[in-house]
Amino acid sequence: MQVEPRSFPDYAASLKVAFEEEIGGETFFAAMAEVFAGAFDGVPSEALALMARMEAETIRLLEPVVDRAGIAVTDRNVLRAEGRAEGFERAAAGWPEIVRSMDEDYGAYVEEFEWAFGQAPLEDRARLQFLVDHEVAIVGFARAWRAGDPDCLAPLHRYLTRAALA
Ligand SMILES: [Fe+2]
Repeated sequence: MQVEPRSFPDYAASLKVAFEEEIGGETFFAAMAEVFAGAFDGVPSEALALMARMEAETIRLLEPVVDRAGIAVTDRNVLRAEGRAEGFERAAAGWPEIVRSMDEDYGAYVEEFEWAFGQAPLEDRARLQFLVDHEVAIVGFARAWRAGDPDCLAPLHRYLTRAALA
């Protein structure tokens, strides 16, 4: 089943969903990293922990964008708790299904974030580009892992290096 990108009534609505999903995403990936500790030579757990850090970096970079857009963010503790619960639930699908979905389905998020990028005020586009790029990096990892690439974590490390300098 192909996952389709969602459409949003306006920029603020898309940014709110994206930002809140990053907050939940940090604990979502961290919970799965716990579950898969040691599995498949430890690569999934390491990748998922890197993804949790990527979500945190993306949140940090988007904070001023969300502020400027005047968005009221849902209680972060609630979002974090939901993300963690969803992570444990999703982990039950098993790593091969999770990484398949990252490869084949996460392109829908890339499209959503590209749409938000196109709607964003010019001053915020550099930060929205990081939102796009973090998802592209996750897809890149998933594709590389499935192809047996021993350097599959590289896209995740590259994103974190770039984000730290932004
Ligand atoms: Fe994310």
